[in-house]
Amino acid sequence: MGTERETKLKKLAHWLKDGGIVVFTGAGISTESGLSDFRSPGGIWERFNPADFTLQKFNSSAERRRKYWAFYRENWKVSRGAKPNRAHLALAELEKMGKINAIVTQNIDGLHQAAGSSPEKVYEIHGTMWEVSCLSCGDTTPWEEIYKILEEDKEVENCHQCGGLLKPATVSFGQSLPAGVLAEAQRQCGSCDLLLCIGSSLAVYPAAGLPEIAKNAGKKLVIINREPTPLDGVADLTFRGEAGEVMSQVLELM
Ligand code: APR
Repeated sequence: MGTERETKLKKLAHWLKDGGIVVFTGAGISTESGLSDFRSPGGIWERFNPADFTLQKFNSSAERRRKYWAFYRENWKVSRGAKPNRAHLALAELEKMGKINAIVTQNIDGLHQAAGSSPEKVYEIHGTMWEVSCLSCGDTTPWEEIYKILEEDKEVENCHQCGGLLKPATVSFGQSLPAGVLAEAQRQCGSCDLLLCIGSSLAVYPAAGLPEIAKNAGKKLVIINREPTPLDGVADLTFRGEAGEVMSQVLELM
């Protein structure tokens, strides 16, 4: 391991020992679990058009909703077998060591909770793919029920409570983020000692504004990412590399 990398890892291990950490994660933390991210070569937005996945499109016609559900039938099939990887497990370990205030994730895959991170410490600001909710009354249905309907090539019916449209409980472009969760995530980012940003291109707002809140509040900002990000220039420490490898190496030094 290059000495420069070693020096940085030792510095991060030292900072993490002080605790008070808020972790901000993106799709890049789940690629080592076999899930695609969005903007890497071969990512989801290279294979699908994001303009087809807006809330407006979803509301616009039964045909658009059929396309959306076909995507989700595939998404559930691929994602249900995914297991947390070394990066998720390292964060669960850091929580056990009492170092984690919160994990703010853009991911909808539930892998932080599957790794053992306490659900009450995980803020899913883009919702979750493991629930289906009614866009009108909020009533929820387990994903398995809808998946079964799709596997039988049947149509997803409207909400049995109010007749509204059912949709996976994720936040689509054009849909507002869950207000309470976002406000609490913003508060956590403003009151932490260190914001650790893992596997995000920091391209989508308001989510990408969260690490900025920590930085503007004078907190330490650390970024672990395979590619450069817009905040690298203001980060106190950056690692250009694989989330699982960097997090495993830094845990070994703690
Ligand atoms: N280790 C480190 N970084 C990685 C790894 C890895 N194993 N795999 C991918 N990356 C990096 C990529 O280089 C990329 O910069 O993670 C980043 C993932 O960025 P995106 O694909 O843009 O994902 P994310 O930042 O989570 O996107 C934010 O955009 O489309 C919306 O709602 C969607 O929540 C998503 C939001």
